Amino acid sequence: MQNWLWQAKDSIAHKPKTLNYLEAAALPLVGVSAWQALVEHIRLSKDKKVLVQGGAGGIGSIAIQLAKHLGAFVATTVSTDDKQFVQELGADQVIDYKTENFEDIVHDYDAVFDTVSGDTYKRSFKVLKKGSGMIVSTLEQPNSELMNQYGIKAVFLFSQVNRQRLTRLAEWIDQNNIRVNIDKTFSLDEAAKALDYQKEGHPRGKLVLTI
Ligand SMILES: NC(=O)c1ccc[n+]([C@@H]2O[C@H](COP(=O)([O-])OP(=O)(O)OC[C@H]3O[C@@H](n4cnc5c(N)ncnc54)[C@H](OP(=O)(O)O)[C@@H]3O)[C@@H](O)[C@H]2O)c1
Repeated sequence: MQNWLWQAKDSIAHKPKTLNYLEAAALPLVGVSAWQALVEHIRLSKDKKVLVQGGAGGIGSIAIQLAKHLGAFVATTVSTDDKQFVQELGADQVIDYKTENFEDIVHDYDAVFDTVSGDTYKRSFKVLKKGSGMIVSTLEQPNSELMNQYGIKAVFLFSQVNRQRLTRLAEWIDQNNIRVNIDKTFSLDEAAKALDYQKEGHPRGKLVLTI
């Protein structure tokens, strides 16, 4: 079998039964990213504390629900308008990144899942448990200076969608009534508009192009 066909076969799975097709289309990249970070890298478990940076985004909104399902205490950073949205997803502590400094509020956390990068990534090291804390970022490569300074393990997450992860994700979605939030849909010829909205519109969850 040709290599590309084999790879395509390995990246498909049955859609979750409890999601409609739009929601299912929005799930794979963000769902697998949250799964890889929290289940595979951090190995989040009951009573651990995790801070999700960017909780109202595509990845963050799934990560909050997954972390709660794993039994963790979940803090998250969002903008003022998104506070209620993430509370409804189950976040225990919601921090408004526009008006508050998260490092003044959370301390001694087991893990940070960073989907924001930059200054937020660097400041995240301060809230982790020295010696055992871990930060996983979808955007930042591990910074050895910060790792040594704070005694923290840092990992860059490269999301890889495959059948095994999609299947486990779909089972979890179906068993736990998980929400995939679609902020807005656009037709394919409105793709440029969708990109502008992604940059400027502060969507909650995902945008979907309909074909
Ligand atoms: N490495 C990989 O394989 C991989 C895979 C998937 C995604 N990614 C990357 O990961 C990032 C996140 O993906 P996504 O799909 O979740 O993006 P997204 O839907 O755009 O979400 C990002 C969220 O971060 C929030 N945010 C911005 N600045 C913030 C701050 N200072 N503090 C807290 N939250 C802040 C945004 O909220 P506002 O509305 O307030 O702006 C938005 O809700 C993207 O940059 C994407 O390119 C990487």
